[in-house]
Amino acid sequence: MTLARTLSGHEVAEAVYAELRQRLKALPFVPSLRVLRLGEDPASVSYVRLKDKRARELGFRSQVEVYPEDFPEEALLSRIAELNAQEDVDGILVQLPLPPHIRADRVLEAIHPLKDVDGFHPLNVGRLWSGGEGLFPCTPLGILRLLKHYGVALKGKEVVVLGRSNIVGKPLAGLLLREDATVTVAHSKTEALPEVTRRAEVLVVAVGKAHLVRKDWVRPGAIVVDVGVNRVEGKLLGDVHPEVAEVASALTPVPGGVGPMTVAMLMANTLKAALLRRHGASL
Ligand code: GUN
Repeated sequence: MTLARTLSGHEVAEAVYAELRQRLKALPFVPSLRVLRLGEDPASVSYVRLKDKRARELGFRSQVEVYPEDFPEEALLSRIAELNAQEDVDGILVQLPLPPHIRADRVLEAIHPLKDVDGFHPLNVGRLWSGGEGLFPCTPLGILRLLKHYGVALKGKEVVVLGRSNIVGKPLAGLLLREDATVTVAHSKTEALPEVTRRAEVLVVAVGKAHLVRKDWVRPGAIVVDVGVNRVEGKLLGDVHPEVAEVASALTPVPGGVGPMTVAMLMANTLKAALLRRHGASL
């Protein structure tokens, strides 16, 4: 039995970093990233540390601002307004999830669209769907970059996205359409789900349920991208059961697949934001 080829996010992220280091070195200024975190959610602490460390290593200026769990919404909005006005800040990222007393939509809409390195501002969301230039979400961009690196063609292909979050499923569907894929977005209310996922030549799973997708859900020879990060009894598990490697032709590992690509695309977005703003883009 041949097992699916592993699509390594680490390998592709390194290729992205090599390119970014070169481009940063050639710039007459140092682009900067500001990450805001509220509270001490362990996953958020760890993700923010990774982003900051990588940004510094590549040659960005990076600063993390940590606020207490009970930081008022108005204070957070004021801080974002200050950072929007600050000439030496290129990218602003507010780590999610936010505490329940804070309306995430208000926060995301407060970030200037040209500094919105997460691509969550409604203006960038609109640009993504209408085909224009903008800043787009990091995980979907990372998935596309990973597939491109391994020579996976998307034009005209049957792609099924399982999951409809604002962070992954929905923006990924928009980006895939821009690549001329035939896109189906399936979710928890989809009827006969395994029949739908079995149609996919490329299947992307982003639902947050450990090992949900079994081998009979997957078309033989399909390329499977596992976005899941589920902590179960101290282990990190994907949304895709390991037995899927018996039927898929290629599969992303968890960890080491999509995760490293998300960080890599945040770095790429920070450089893009710096260039867009300096070149007078009208986002
Ligand atoms: N939390 C989980 N994923 C993300 C992301 O892509 N951006 C932000 N800001 N927070 C997250």
